[in-house]
Formats: sequence, C-alpha cells, structure tokens
Amino acid sequence: MPAPRILILGATGGLGRALHRHFAVNFETITWGRADLDFERPDSIAAKLASQKFDVLLNAAGMTSPDVCEIEPERALLANVVAPQILAECCQARGARMIHFSTDYVFGAEARDLWFETDETVPVNVYGRTKLAGEQAVLKASPGALVARVSWLFGPHKPSHPDNIIQRALQTDDLSAVADKISVPTSNADICGWIEQLIVRHPTTCGVLHLCNSGVASWHSWAEAALTIAARLEVPVKTTTVQPIELACLTQLKAPRPLMTVMSNAKLQSLLGGEIRNWYDALEEYLVQKYQPQ
Ligand SMILES: NC(=O)c1ccc[n+]([C@@H]2O[C@H](COP(=O)([O-])OP(=O)(O)OC[C@H]3O[C@@H](n4cnc5c(N)ncnc54)[C@H](OP(=O)(O)O)[C@@H]3O)[C@@H](O)[C@H]2O)c1
Repeated sequence: MPAPRILILGATGGLGRALHRHFAVNFETITWGRADLDFERPDSIAAKLASQKFDVLLNAAGMTSPDVCEIEPERALLANVVAPQILAECCQARGARMIHFSTDYVFGAEARDLWFETDETVPVNVYGRTKLAGEQAVLKASPGALVARVSWLFGPHKPSHPDNIIQRALQTDDLSAVADKISVPTSNADICGWIEQLIVRHPTTCGVLHLCNSGVASWHSWAEAALTIAARLEVPVKTTTVQPIELACLTQLKAPRPLMTVMSNAKLQSLLGGEIRNWYDALEEYLVQKYQPQ
C-alpha cells in the first residue's frame, strides 16, 4: 500500500515544523501555514481543502497563547473551534483521517495528581475552553478522528521554557520560576515518532489520546533540569539554581493558568507497546543536539 499523503497545518509553529521535518523523510507531505489557510476566514476552508489531495490531516494550527485567547475570545473561537470543525467535516466527507492536537489545559479547575482520557474536563481559561470545544466539535463531525492532547512542548523549532531559562542564565544568576504548577514536559521529536506509529500501525485509533512523556515537573524543576544539563554540556550558564516562586506571583498574566495538569500516558503506552521515556531523558537528548551537535 502506498504511504499516506500527509497535510500538515500550522507548519510555521513549533510542533508543525517538527512534524514537517519528521514526515518529509519518508512520506509525501504538504505543509500549510496561516498564509495558505487562515482559520479566521472559515468560508475559505472547504474550497481550499477540496483543492488538495491528502489522506491524513495533522492539525497543529490554532491560537495557542492563553493570554491572547483571553483578550480575543472571538478570534480564539474561530481558530480553535470553528475552523477545526470545518476541517473535520471535510475529512469526514472525503474519508481522510484527521489528527487534531489539543492540550492538557482542558483540565485544571480541580487539583488532581493525574488525568486520564476518560476524566471530566473543566478548563480554567478561554484557551482551554476553546480547545475543549474544538476537541468535541472535531469528534462529533468526524468520529474516526484522533484528538492528541499534548503538554509543555519543547524542541528545536521554537524556543520554549528550557531555551528561555538557559538564555537568561547566560546573562544573570538571578532566576526564578513557578514551582506550584505541575505538568509533563514533552518532546516534539517524540510526538512525531508516536504520530508516525499511530498513522502507520494504528490507522483506526480514534477519540482522545494523551501524548506526553513520562514523569512530572514544575516550571521550576524543568528550569533547573535544563540548566544542570546545559552546565554539564559546558554552556556558560551563570547558575543552575532557580528561585522557586508561586504562580500567584505572576500578576502580569492575562489568563488564569491551571495548576495540576499531569496527563497519564498509560493508554499511549499500551497502544504502542513500549516504555514512553521520561521527559528528562528527552530534554537531555534535545540539549545535547543543540549544544553539542555531531
Ligand atoms: N506549545 C505547547 O507547550 C503546547 C502545550 C499544549 C498543547 N499545545 C497544542 O499543540 C499544538 C501546536 O502547538 P505549538 O506550540 O506548535 O503552536 P505554535 O508554535 O503557536 O504554532 C501555532 C500555529 O498555528 C498557526 N495559526 C495561528 N492562528 C492561525 C490562524 N488564524 N489560521 C491559521 N493558522 C494559524 C500559527 O501560524 P503563525 O505562525 O502565522 O502564527 C502556527 O503555525 C496546538 O494545538 C496547541 O494548542 C501546545
């Protein structure tokens, strides 16, 4: 059987770029950014999709900043709910599979150590509410779609928390990070590998699936881990110690943030049949590639 043709949306974003780089090696890929398909122009979506052949649609596009979503909820609704629903309707009509990325921020109103796919979702901000509504709209329009919830992404295509803290530590030893907000840092590269397996080996898996590395972290422990690895790689950081602060100290945030959004990856693990590596190991691999490329 020929390899499926893969259409990647959000191709200018961190995950979208990683997906493109990964799938371009062995698959025919088509990559669209906002310039190719603007989710805030929903009337254009069906015709644009109809003009393109594809078998699998990976939707990594959306309004991803909680603070922007909070102050622009109508735009968030278009990007995170209306457009994904139309995409799902188009996929359903042509028999294509849609894999739609969502977030751990669908949880959080309640403090709980671990969240499973079957748990009730109660988001605390506009971003989480629109992403949840997007999940529901996609699965209603295309019951064979897969909603892949991911958390705290990192990787080479867009600076994230570890990159930012290392950059700051090159300038100063006066660093702080939130210690009472807990989730699972997750490697974009690992997500690409899981998605490939889900496409090739599990073409009928549908519904909600948590895609995250193993282990848990706070923004604080994630920051100290990144600095410790960087120091070992002889990156001239001024410190590996970060002052722990509470989320409540970040008064500049426009959107409330959930505190406890650790997702279980047990379903992913049993589906793929192997250990999902710890976020620390994935972070170490990423930083070695970044600072000691072969
Ligand atoms: N990053 C994380 O830590 C994290 C955590 C949990 C879940 N997620 C989810 O993972 C997915 C990918 O996240 P990411 O971090 O890779 O996102 P990202 O870097 O912010 O990229 C978002 C992509 O969506 C595009 N986009 C935004 N508004 C659009 C619009 N109106 N029309 C068309 N395209 C639009 C962006 O295009 P422009 O470049 O033109 O803006 C960009 O290509 C998202 O579903 C996100 O909710 C991410």
